[in-house]
Amino acid sequence: MPRRSLSKIQSGLDLSHYFLPMEVEFYDDRVDPEAAALAQPSDGADKVARVPYATLSGLSFEELSERLFDRVAPLEFEIGSGKGLFISTTASANRARNFLGVEIAYRYALLSASRLAKRGAYNGVMMAADAAKVLREVIPLNSLTAAHIYFPDPWWKKAHRKRRIVRPDVVEMIEARLIKGGRLNFWTDVKEYFDSGVEIIKTSTNLAGPFPVKERPAADSMDFRTHFERRTRLNEQPVYRSFFEKRF
Ligand SMILES: C[S@@+](CC[C@H](N)C(=O)[O-])C[C@H]1O[C@@H](n2cnc3c(N)ncnc32)[C@H](O)[C@@H]1O
Repeated sequence: MPRRSLSKIQSGLDLSHYFLPMEVEFYDDRVDPEAAALAQPSDGADKVARVPYATLSGLSFEELSERLFDRVAPLEFEIGSGKGLFISTTASANRARNFLGVEIAYRYALLSASRLAKRGAYNGVMMAADAAKVLREVIPLNSLTAAHIYFPDPWWKKAHRKRRIVRPDVVEMIEARLIKGGRLNFWTDVKEYFDSGVEIIKTSTNLAGPFPVKERPAADSMDFRTHFERRTRLNEQPVYRSFFEKRF
């Protein structure tokens, strides 16, 4: 994805609760190299790490929830939060749930964390990391009430397809980590990615779906699920939306 300049992150915010950077040496060759370069901690922000990544593996759902959010509550997981519109608005509107966003581009993760901090959405935490790695190493089985994938990078070239986040190993991990009744939301503006992603989810998992999601009119200029949904709809382009549900 071409990187645009980011809005300035408000200084003086205490991000220690909201932002968890991780070491960059772990990224594998399926990760967007441009994003991995952006994953390098900068501005000394790594000193805000509250919980070292290494302490998050092998925990139970309750232990992980306590460690990340200081409480146990239903957990939602967002892959590729970008500038954080979804996690910040949804976490502040749904205080009874916990939200973990994972964004590989460090500055975007930091920006998303600053949006959570501005809203005092203590039930939201951003991790600067590869979401596939976090799923594999951190998220316990049967622990997610919802997983969210909105406008993932499409990687048009065949040689780059392996970098797509909607791929068999990732959707299998999501299925195993959803609770019964948990949902996977998948939206994109790329028809080909939508069709092939839906097919991958159908063939790689036992999730029920796809179920359609109706577009609803925006109540105000920021009333969109994500920044990419906003941009796509303001450009009057179609958005393809689906959700899947774990029934057993
Ligand atoms: C096209 S943007 C969409 C951002 C946001 N979901 C939206 O709809 O506005 C895709 C985002 O996914 C992030 N990303 C790509 N690969 C990732 C990975 N393996 N783990 C976490 N985030 C990733 C990118 O850095 C980028 O911010």
